[in-house]
Amino acid sequence: MITKDFNKILNELQNGNVVGVPTETVYGLGAGIYFEDAIKRIYELKKRPQTNPLIVHVTSLEMINDLVEEIPENCERLIKKLAPGPISFLLKRKKDKVPDYITNHSNYVVVRIPDQPVFYKLIEKLNMPIAAPSANPYQMISPTSAKHVFKYFEDSFSIYDGGICKKGIESTIVGFENDKITILRKGSVTKWKIEKEFGNKITIVNQYQEYLPGTDKKHYSTKTPFKVVENWNEVQHYIKNKKTGIIAMNQPNIKTDFLSQSEIKIMKSTKEAMSKLYATMHYFDDKNLDLILCIKFPDDDHGQILNDKILRAVNFK
Ligand code: TXA
Ligand code: MG
Repeated sequence: MITKDFNKILNELQNGNVVGVPTETVYGLGAGIYFEDAIKRIYELKKRPQTNPLIVHVTSLEMINDLVEEIPENCERLIKKLAPGPISFLLKRKKDKVPDYITNHSNYVVVRIPDQPVFYKLIEKLNMPIAAPSANPYQMISPTSAKHVFKYFEDSFSIYDGGICKKGIESTIVGFENDKITILRKGSVTKWKIEKEFGNKITIVNQYQEYLPGTDKKHYSTKTPFKVVENWNEVQHYIKNKKTGIIAMNQPNIKTDFLSQSEIKIMKSTKEAMSKLYATMHYFDDKNLDLILCIKFPDDDHGQILNDKILRAVNFK
């Protein structure tokens, strides 16, 4: 059920149930971290491997302090500058405060202070951190509206309708080692924004390594075959006699007869595409098309993040 009844959602959480919650990035599948059965249910619902730990959402630096052994200086600076916001921090957990079933026994926990008033208030009122992965089945596209969540899970749990997520891309996950800051998962906060604070000390971990967040080679997938192409000429090559949805930054400057069975969604800028990419993928995926094509984004700050997501969405078949 989709609802705007705050107390109903709060009650569900207090009773140890799973709920759909809005965040500024994507919708989450949330439960209080000390409700072990609810956390197990999150894994079941998502069909997510147990080896893939959950992000823990809190409302303050003090609450983070309570969960982790230490907050490195760089982390505190980032929290003060960018939180609440779409950035998550990988920190050494206190084993008596963050249960093994949240982190798959890892020594680390990922924490984040969300910038969405309803979700923020839910954590405060529950008076407990809320674990929430994105509210999609394992490897599918993240939801950016309550309807997307409902499409995946129907009435399995209640979903709070907080409108459309204003960021539309998951949080950036950063780690700290010695004096270094590492981007472990590209997300809403760009490398540039972090560099502005810290000069050029930032490393980006790109390649898939076991245990790195959001780096599964296949991720963010549609049911419909999804391909990434370089330009309109390549689009032309792929779409012969196919009903196609196309995501692009501009109209084609070639003859367009080949587009008769296609629908194009134009993104005016890479910034706009950040908030619309997943919603557009959901939109096309609901249309029973033969193919979805996305023309690669320019290699600017936002484009790099978008390209990371679309390249993982490609169906390997
Ligand atoms: O924007 C977001 O971060 C959204 C909203 C709901 O907050 N959440 C989200 O969660 O994207 P999820 O579970 O879909 O992605 C979190 C990623 C996963 O790839 C997971 O493996 C990684 O973070 N992660 C979480 N805790 C970790 C830990 N202790 N160690 C390593 N990776 C961790
Ligand atoms: Mg996810």
